[in-house]
Amino acid sequence: MVNIIDLHKSFGKNVVLSGVDLNTDQGGIYAILGPNGSGKTTLIKSILGMVLPKKGTIEVLGENIKIDSAYRNHIDYLPQIANFPNNIKVKELIRMIKDLRGAKNTNEENLIRRFQLEPFLNKKLGNLSGGTKQKVNIVLTFMFDRPLIILDEPTTGLDPIALIQLKELIRIEKDKGKTILITSHIMSFVEEISDEIVFLLEGTIYFKGTIAALKEKTEQPNFEHAIASILSKHHA
Ligand SMILES: Nc1ncnc2c1ncn2[C@@H]1O[C@H](COP(=O)(O)OP(=O)(O)OP(=O)(O)O)[C@@H](O)[C@H]1O
Ligand SMILES: [Mg+2]
Repeated sequence: MVNIIDLHKSFGKNVVLSGVDLNTDQGGIYAILGPNGSGKTTLIKSILGMVLPKKGTIEVLGENIKIDSAYRNHIDYLPQIANFPNNIKVKELIRMIKDLRGAKNTNEENLIRRFQLEPFLNKKLGNLSGGTKQKVNIVLTFMFDRPLIILDEPTTGLDPIALIQLKELIRIEKDKGKTILITSHIMSFVEEISDEIVFLLEGTIYFKGTIAALKEKTEQPNFEHAIASILSKHHA
């Protein structure tokens, strides 16, 4: 689904990605992990064509993304920080995004119900709480039915009920055969939903595999400790 070969990206002198190789199958949930500033968002934005790499190749659905930008129509993307216009209403924003994409069969009604957003549809985005904004962000991402879903910190600000709804939604999409890339710092969430983890450290993929394999490699019985053991070795 996504095939990345020898990806390099720097911002000025700051080397963020220095030889990332990553290959995902079609279908399944991949969690991209790594400490703050390790380059998760940069990697995601490179896949989306929002960050231009210095070197390397990215293929999505078998196509080199440099050659044709049409691949973007196969990706649903939830940004880590959504910059919504403050002065328009939730329902207006949903309509605008639908119109912009020229999409007809969208799923927003279901999603609005799932996240109990009905009372907020006529409110301006600038007046919403952080968690409610994130629910709108989620609706805008999932209302199109695309085969690759990329979620950058989707749990940010969500209350426990919304978190349960998000997990259910992600599982439903996975069961349709979709490929889902997720970044998260919430280890319990990652452990619950991901099929594989991809651990980004010092510019490259330090580990890719199942949580069971990570526990074995680090000789740690629990996931959180397995992650902590990698990080503490690298601090030492
Ligand atoms: N547009 C930019 N201009 C300059 N530096 C940037 C830019 N975007 C990211 N960086 C730098 O690249 C590095 C990686 O940032 P990135 O946002 O990819 O990290 P992350 O792993 O997503 O972190 P977090 O867990 O905090 O979301 C950081 O040092 C950051 O300061
Ligand atoms: Mg990030």
